[in-house]
Amino acid sequence: MPKFYLTTPIYYANSRPHVGSAYTTIVCDVIARYKRMCGYEVAYLTGTDEHGVNIERAAEKLGITPAELVDRNQQIFRDLWKLLGIQHTHFIRTTSAEHARAVQTLVRRTMARTPDAIYKARYEGRYCVHDNLYVSDSSEPANCPLCGRPAELISEENYFFRLSAYQGKLLALYRDHPEFVQPDFRMNEVRSFVEAGLKDVSISRRSIKWGIPWPDDPEHVFYVWYDALTSYLSGIGFGQGEGGEANPSFKKFWPANLHMIGKEIIRFHAVYWPAFLMAAELPLPEKIFAHGWLLFEQEKMSKSKGNVAYPEPIVKALDELTGAKVGNDALRYYLLRETVFGQDGNFSRDALLTRYNADLANGLGNLASRVLTMIENYCEGIIPDPGNATVPLRIHELASQPHRDAILSSYENFEFSDALTVTWAAVELVDKYLVEEKPWVLAQKTENRKQLEQVLYSAMESLRIVCALAHPVAPESTQRIWSQMGLQGALADVRINQLQWGDFKPGTRIGKPEAVFPRVDKKEAWERIEAMENEIRNPAGAAPKPAAEPAAGAKIAIEDFAKIELRVGVVKSAERIPGADKLLKLLVDIGEEVRQVLAGIALAYAPEELIGRKVVIVANLAPRKMRGLESNGMLLAASADADGKPVLCTFAEDIPAGSKVK
Ligand code: MSP
Repeated sequence: MPKFYLTTPIYYANSRPHVGSAYTTIVCDVIARYKRMCGYEVAYLTGTDEHGVNIERAAEKLGITPAELVDRNQQIFRDLWKLLGIQHTHFIRTTSAEHARAVQTLVRRTMARTPDAIYKARYEGRYCVHDNLYVSDSSEPANCPLCGRPAELISEENYFFRLSAYQGKLLALYRDHPEFVQPDFRMNEVRSFVEAGLKDVSISRRSIKWGIPWPDDPEHVFYVWYDALTSYLSGIGFGQGEGGEANPSFKKFWPANLHMIGKEIIRFHAVYWPAFLMAAELPLPEKIFAHGWLLFEQEKMSKSKGNVAYPEPIVKALDELTGAKVGNDALRYYLLRETVFGQDGNFSRDALLTRYNADLANGLGNLASRVLTMIENYCEGIIPDPGNATVPLRIHELASQPHRDAILSSYENFEFSDALTVTWAAVELVDKYLVEEKPWVLAQKTENRKQLEQVLYSAMESLRIVCALAHPVAPESTQRIWSQMGLQGALADVRINQLQWGDFKPGTRIGKPEAVFPRVDKKEAWERIEAMENEIRNPAGAAPKPAAEPAAGAKIAIEDFAKIELRVGVVKSAERIPGADKLLKLLVDIGEEVRQVLAGIALAYAPEELIGRKVVIVANLAPRKMRGLESNGMLLAASADADGKPVLCTFAEDIPAGSKVK
């Protein structure tokens, strides 16, 4: 049996997964199911990335140990994958002993096979703890290009990987295997990056404790990306048991056939990872596919921006409201149908519910119940024999091999939306066929019996083929239709690439027709999902927020407000602060004195346009130091949302500097 090994990235275990994170896992599950139906033995790896500074800090904030935090969070991932019916075969935790062994084995192997690949040197640079990204190799202040946060200064002795020595080899790889990175436009980005020259990368840390110790030098722990990437090896057995580097499961499944990732982590996968493997003399993965992001109002869905949707409310609300198990398939179908895979896509609850009602309830679900009910009513629940009658031309085309192969080739090329569009065109065609042939009229006259049987057989056979072709995306509901059609066994065991028109055996007794996708009331579903999302965001019983941060909507006493001294100020001078993109240094006249105030408004206002402007200043704020400069007060500004452009508060009428605002 041929093998297929695919992986999702190993998820950061510092926060709970949202629909954006689940996207990669769902897509991989579709591919895994599709490949199994093509006769492959599939290994599907996912897991949790549990080391690094941000885990350490997240745990500190919660007052628990990093080990406690990751134990708790990895379970949330496992539970979600279970709820979503994800059929991964392997789950790796980077804090497991097997994984640590594999990372140490890999670095030892590298040092033995390519002795100059790893060396010790002093590292000085800026590093983003949030994205685990080296932002620059100079000590100058810099912001992270991914999240925009200021990067931290790091200076320490590290182990380095000689990435610079791999430029030629990587370019040769891209030239000889243009399919190594997909889509093509991503390959072009990667190639240009490598052509511009590669710097060596530090692969250890001394300042961090929460990591895998370097072999024979435990003061160092592995840099999280070296650690995390190695999970693609450790997850299938590398470095484990008797076999060690030649572990039988590892030998069977490595190299990976597909690393599925989001676009922001392509450099680690398409540049660092193959270079690490080359230095260790291990075979390279066959393909890296970088998909786009799920956006919420054109921004990447992310918890820190507060614009997240969680999968659980969608799945549970739809299951509850319909009294059927439809939520998973609805979410999967929506995610794969709506977005051209590879591009960014917008996530919309409204569009999901519309698709559910239109394509699943009215489309596939309605077709299934119509055809099954007619078999029940006109053929005593037995699949009729079409005899030698020729299959109607259009229906035949739809179920013919070229049609089936077009859908399969869309799956092969990860063009899921195309595969589903063509499959659902078949649903419409069969619907139309029934409207034209009118089996309910044919059923009234015995001389039309043969024709009736042929029409109903053709409709059932089309439905069988549609169910098989849609199974990787909508596994639960297509299996239910399959059983209602009287077909035995698991649909997952059907060979999708061997589907043949006419394989449905006449004489088969169908099961009881039942609605597979009951319609939902969109408003009701929306509200139910919203309520469940709110429970996740503000769990009942969660510790109340500290008094300093009153919950939105809570009231404060007038005495509380009176503690804040607000005054009218006039901006006397304004200038940028080198290295701080967002900050301006202002001198503000507040009547009896001129204050130095640092304000995060540099992206919204040019310094020169502020001179002479009247502003509102919080005058009794304790002084704060930023970038080594003292700020004595704060300007009031409004913004439409957390990341929105700040708009300074000002006055329509004239008012002298120093006046109290109350
Ligand atoms: N831990 C690293 C990966 C190490 S792999 C050796 C990481 N983890 S992550 O949790 O941040 O991301 C995991 C996956 O979720 C990535 O493929 C990422 O692209 C995906 N997504 C997270 N948010 C997403 C969206 N809003 N939209 C689509 N996918 C997104 O990176």
